[in-house]
Amino acid sequence: LKVAVLGGTGRMGGGVARHLAKKHEVIIGSRDPGRAKRAAEKFEGARGAGYAQAAAESDVVVVAVPYAALGAMAEVAKEVRGKLVISMVNPLKMEKGLLKFSLEEGSAAEELAAMLPGGKVATAFNNLPAGFFDGEEVPAADILVAAQSSEAFEEAAEVVRSIPRLRPLYAGPLSEARTVEMITPLVLNLAKLNQTGALATKFVTKKG
Ligand SMILES: NC(=O)c1ccc[n+]([C@@H]2O[C@H](COP(=O)([O-])OP(=O)(O)OC[C@H]3O[C@@H](n4cnc5c(N)ncnc54)[C@H](OP(=O)(O)O)[C@@H]3O)[C@@H](O)[C@H]2O)c1
Repeated sequence: LKVAVLGGTGRMGGGVARHLAKKHEVIIGSRDPGRAKRAAEKFEGARGAGYAQAAAESDVVVVAVPYAALGAMAEVAKEVRGKLVISMVNPLKMEKGLLKFSLEEGSAAEELAAMLPGGKVATAFNNLPAGFFDGEEVPAADILVAAQSSEAFEEAAEVVRSIPRLRPLYAGPLSEARTVEMITPLVLNLAKLNQTGALATKFVTKKG
C-alpha cells in the first residue's frame, strides 16, 4: 500500500511511519515539504511531501496531527475521497494535574469524517504511546478500531496487522470513537499516578 502519514514529522506520526515503511511505501506529509523530506531521510521506504500531495499520492491516509490542527485536514478533502483515513487524534486537556477528554460531545474522528465527505474514517493507534515505536520491535498491544463502515474496519485492521504484535479489535461504528479516544487520558493518568512507565491497552482472555 501507499500510506501517507500527515504529521509524520512528529513523535507519534514518525514512529508509525517508520514501522509502516517496513511493509508499505510511506509518504510523510508536512505543512513544510522540506521538513517532510528531511524526516523521510531518517529511514528506508519513505519520501516526503506537503499534506495535499502526500494524500493525493496515497491509498491510505493516516492523520497524526494534534487535535488543534485537525481543521487543516479539510484542505485534503478532495485528495482523500474514497480512501481509508486513519485517525489517532485525541482531544485532551489538563485539569488539576490530570488529563481529561476535552470534547463535550462527539470525537475527533467524527469531526474528521464530517470534514472529509467520501472518505472512510477509522480510529487506530489512539491509545498507544509514541515510545512504543522507539525500538525495532513494537511491544504487543491491542489497537481499538471504531470505523465508519465494515470496509473501513477491514482496511484499517490490515494496516494495523502490518506492524507485528499489534492486534486490531473492532470497537464498533464511528460513534464509538469517543469511547476509544477517552481511553487515552485514562491510560496516561494511570501511568503517571502509578509510576508504571508508558502503558498501552492489551485485553486478556480467560483461559478454559
Ligand atoms: N504522542 C503520543 O504518544 C500519542 C499517542 C497516541 C496518539 N497521539 C495523537 O497523535 C497526534 C500527534 O501527536 P504527536 O505527539 O506526535 O504530536 P506533535 O509531535 O506535536 O505533532 C505532530 C505533527 O503535527 C503537525 N502539525 C500540523 N499542524 C500543527 C499545529 N498547528 N501545531 C503543531 N503541530 C502541527 C506537525 O507537523 P508539520 O509541522 O511537519 O506539518 C507536527 O510534527 C495527536 O493527535 C495525538 O493526540 C499521540
